[in-house]
Amino acid sequence: MELKIVEGKEKKQKPTGALGFGKYFTDRMFVMEYENGAWGNARITPYAPFSLDPSTAVFHYAQAIFEGTKAYKNQNGEIRLFRPRDNFLRLNDSGDRVCIPPVDVDFVTDCLTKLVLMEKDWIPTEPGTALYIRPSVIATDAALGVHASKKYIFFIILSPVGAYYAHGLEPVGLYVEQEYVRASKGGTGHHKVAGNYAASLKGGEKANALGYDQVMWLDAREHKYVEEVGSMNIFFVLKGKAVTPALAGSILPGITRRSILELLRSKNIPTEERLVSIAEVIEGIESGACTEIFGTGTAAVISPVGRVGYNGKDYVINGGKMGEISRMAYDTLTGIQTGVLPDPFGWVVRIA
Ligand code: PLP
Ligand code: COI
Repeated sequence: MELKIVEGKEKKQKPTGALGFGKYFTDRMFVMEYENGAWGNARITPYAPFSLDPSTAVFHYAQAIFEGTKAYKNQNGEIRLFRPRDNFLRLNDSGDRVCIPPVDVDFVTDCLTKLVLMEKDWIPTEPGTALYIRPSVIATDAALGVHASKKYIFFIILSPVGAYYAHGLEPVGLYVEQEYVRASKGGTGHHKVAGNYAASLKGGEKANALGYDQVMWLDAREHKYVEEVGSMNIFFVLKGKAVTPALAGSILPGITRRSILELLRSKNIPTEERLVSIAEVIEGIESGACTEIFGTGTAAVISPVGRVGYNGKDYVINGGKMGEISRMAYDTLTGIQTGVLPDPFGWVVRIA
């Protein structure tokens, strides 16, 4: 397929103050459409709204998937992407679950590279910042019958970002939700399906109202085992081992999670992927066996957890401070992503 470039004249003012997360968007985006059984009309165009019929499938039945990855620019002007093909492979897995046709991973990776290079002046270079990349696919049949759409729009938008959490690398507080669930086995929770995030909002609002940043989700059947945080996977340092819940069919297989497991193993830090009960975590915090908790994700990077709220009580981890393993993971991961450290794992793709 050919990639067209559609030029536009208006250029947006670049943000000056704190970037926050996902508030600013660059001048251009990538778009292609699926119709008559094939993707086509691939183009980089000025960033602009879509005009869609009110009956459009995605508005009613949430047939939509998305991804999140980042581009990094260092002080020398070098630009790198982090495991971009893995994101498009996961996009296709998510698509399969909700009947969205796959994209050509090599083609979209190439289009993404061209888009990022055209928008390279938007990539921030301050420590902790990056250009967040959001590929999405939405179903665009204009009809109300419940069926897999025959038409789709795939688009990629770019957003210069800072830390996902308002207080940056300060440890976050997580609320253990025991009423609502995010995902169940056989559902869509282990895919990046838009509706998962709608299902998580009520728990998130409750956590915020109680003074926590996000929800620590438990399994849907027994409300006993920790799953993840809804925007990041979770690690517990228990008796010196880095333990993370096994991907048992309702947890998103995070690319950062996979990378951190590889990184920790390379540093001879023992790791375990297994069931982790909330009782084990609480006992571990109380006895001192759980010395660190951190989340991993593209937006969240490595987010230390300083506080867990469970059954009306607050449990503080490591005096509410970032731990040694979390710090090492953060420094090494961001060092590799920005090219400040070598990449022995072959994760980054240098594009400039
Ligand atoms: N879990 C959920 C539900 C997410 O949305 C994300 C973010 O993508 C993650 C975990 C972390 O995944 P990744 O490391 O691939 O960004
Ligand atoms: C990401 O980390 O890329 C995410 O998608 C998490 C969240 C912003 C939904």
